[in-house]
Amino acid sequence: MPRLDVSLNRLHLANPILVASGTFGYAREMQAYVDYSRLGGIIPKTVTPLPRGGNPPPRTVETTAGLLNSIGLDNDGLEAFIAKHLDPLRQLGTSLIVNIAGKSTAEFVAMAQRLDAFDGIAALELNISCPNVSGGVDYGTNPKLTAEVVREVRGHSRLPIIAKLTPNVTSVPEIAIAASEAGADALALINTFQGMAVDWKRRKPILGNGIGGLSGPAIKPLALRIVWQVSQAVKTPLIGIGGIQSIDDVLEFLVCGATAVQVGTANFYDPGLANRLVDELSTALESQGLESVGDLVGTLQYPRPVVAAASCATPAASPAGR
Ligand code: FUM
Repeated sequence: MPRLDVSLNRLHLANPILVASGTFGYAREMQAYVDYSRLGGIIPKTVTPLPRGGNPPPRTVETTAGLLNSIGLDNDGLEAFIAKHLDPLRQLGTSLIVNIAGKSTAEFVAMAQRLDAFDGIAALELNISCPNVSGGVDYGTNPKLTAEVVREVRGHSRLPIIAKLTPNVTSVPEIAIAASEAGADALALINTFQGMAVDWKRRKPILGNGIGGLSGPAIKPLALRIVWQVSQAVKTPLIGIGGIQSIDDVLEFLVCGATAVQVGTANFYDPGLANRLVDELSTALESQGLESVGDLVGTLQYPRPVVAAASCATPAASPAGR
């Protein structure tokens, strides 16, 4: 049997199949469908220092091969998370990664320090990329702020740190380099793409908040491209996210440079998927004669530097002057 365990610096997972924040509730909602102990890990909905009511409805709308959401980080706050959810989550027999978001570096640090006191947390995922709140995504669009929050949390917590990055920037590698140099153990790529759905008859956006974040199969090619580009820019282990709904999707992310993946939107319509992917991963590696997940990571045969793509647009490259 191939080895499925993976290490992302200080974070060690039984297998590379995680479920993404905001798509799996607090796990107990999925009890009837999932053997938690066979997952690589669980990442519950983002926790903020204080309770948040979230954005006005409608908060989700299905789009072509995708889901647009603007939840607005609705959650009961850190103390309620600790009181109600932490114990059940850490008894599930899988790695628990707590996703946190603050409005300032001090808030991120205070949350990390509070969570540091508890056993049974495998890592913190810093949500510096939510597209639906002000004072959250700003971090992930600014390399200096990204570095500051990662460095400060790392300096005040013993837990491994995953920085979850936004694709809504000109250069994700630039932000990834900042997070890596500041000490992130892993980078989760990517959060959702800002988008809109419109009811033209009413001349209105469909989401109550107007703009939302797009996820699902529609974004997989974009996510693969970003994972590959970032893999060329940093040595920090990557976690691929974006439209995963089959074992081939998982393998594509691994080949492009991800060491692990998060299943997100597909959990809403196929909650047993992540469990099945673990079995299918084993079978897929075996059929390729591979001994471990690591044998596949970053094996894409496309060793061109990221900037080379620009040369396609030069006049010299266009046939017969067209
Ligand atoms: O609106 C939301 O709660 C989305 C969060 C995220 O994408 O991180």
